[in-house]
Amino acid sequence: MKKQVKNNVYWVGKVDWELQKFHGDEYSTHKGSTYNSYLIQEEKTALIDTVWAPFAEEFVKNLAGEIDLQKIDYIIANHGEIDHSGGLPALMKHIPDKPIYCTSNAVKSLKGHYHEDWNFHVVKTGDKIDLGNGKELVFVEMRMLHWPDSMATYLTGDNILFSNDAFGQHFATEMLFNDQVDQCALFNESIKYYANILTPFSALLRRKLDEITALNLPIEIIATSHGVVWRDNPLQIVEKYAEWADDYQENQITIIYDTMWNGTKTLAEKIAEGVTAADPDVTVKVHNLAKRDENDLITEVFKSKAVAIGSPTIANNILHSVAGFIHLMKGLRFKRKKAAAFGCYGWSGESVKVINELMADAGFEIINEGYRNQWNPDDDAQKAAVDFGKALARA
Ligand code: FEO
Repeated sequence: MKKQVKNNVYWVGKVDWELQKFHGDEYSTHKGSTYNSYLIQEEKTALIDTVWAPFAEEFVKNLAGEIDLQKIDYIIANHGEIDHSGGLPALMKHIPDKPIYCTSNAVKSLKGHYHEDWNFHVVKTGDKIDLGNGKELVFVEMRMLHWPDSMATYLTGDNILFSNDAFGQHFATEMLFNDQVDQCALFNESIKYYANILTPFSALLRRKLDEITALNLPIEIIATSHGVVWRDNPLQIVEKYAEWADDYQENQITIIYDTMWNGTKTLAEKIAEGVTAADPDVTVKVHNLAKRDENDLITEVFKSKAVAIGSPTIANNILHSVAGFIHLMKGLRFKRKKAAAFGCYGWSGESVKVINELMADAGFEIINEGYRNQWNPDDDAQKAAVDFGKALARA
């Protein structure tokens, strides 16, 4: 069922309440998601983006219930990723000759995904389409935000920025607008989305935000491709992005570990005690990797000024959960964050050295040689872990 965004602009997407994982199994979506597609019905009719492939037939059927598909004049593909372009093959069977407006990189990604030679019209920043009734679509390339093919589309007159992935969240809701949903949940999903997807592109994003600001476009609505439409103070999410893109951190230290016989867990908790003893104002969080969602922990790292990473030594190395998590962090290219390593061992005790090397390679500033303890931590070892936490807080 279509929902009105403003005047002749309608949401015609899909709410995916069941989605638990996105990007294969890489991103947890505790609150589901939406794939937002928009229909603009002026003198000319434009469709902006579609939905994820499993919902393609349902999408086309619903769309055909709202409008004669032959009346669509323009299709805008802001981004070639399957969650937005997945409805195209089913749609184009009905209207194979209709023009698809997208970036040159999107032609590559769409051809690469679907092996179809549709009627592509390549656009660049500043290119326009006239919709009649005094309204135009203006394109803004968003290269690497987050794919080479990404772009945003701006509708003059109604002053709506169709931003695609930028400013979105994986958040299923039947309510269309940001002011209609739980604000805490919306914020949490927005920051998680930024932390897990956009962090590596922060420098690019800072430049793009400046470029969009310089265009001086009045923005009354930001219609993203996932989650809510920002109509109540839409620039609030732009301001948040500016903060998050600026090597974001809060006064938080996060201690993340995995453990075999709870020795490393004991160290983690004592390190947390030490941090709080040295600086009661710092937010300290302690998480066992094996019992927490990795993407939620990435959000905690994103908020942190420092992290302590712990693993016992196994086979002269570290637990694979910890290695995998460091690999995840490395890909996100965090900046301006400190790190320390800790862990228990029985005989050889390499884990702390391995963690230090991996964390340095992941771009973290290693604050000291780390803390390792042989066998289960006794009272002295626990006190040493508290002191290690104090040093971490003071670093
Ligand atoms: Fe929501 Fe990059 O796709």
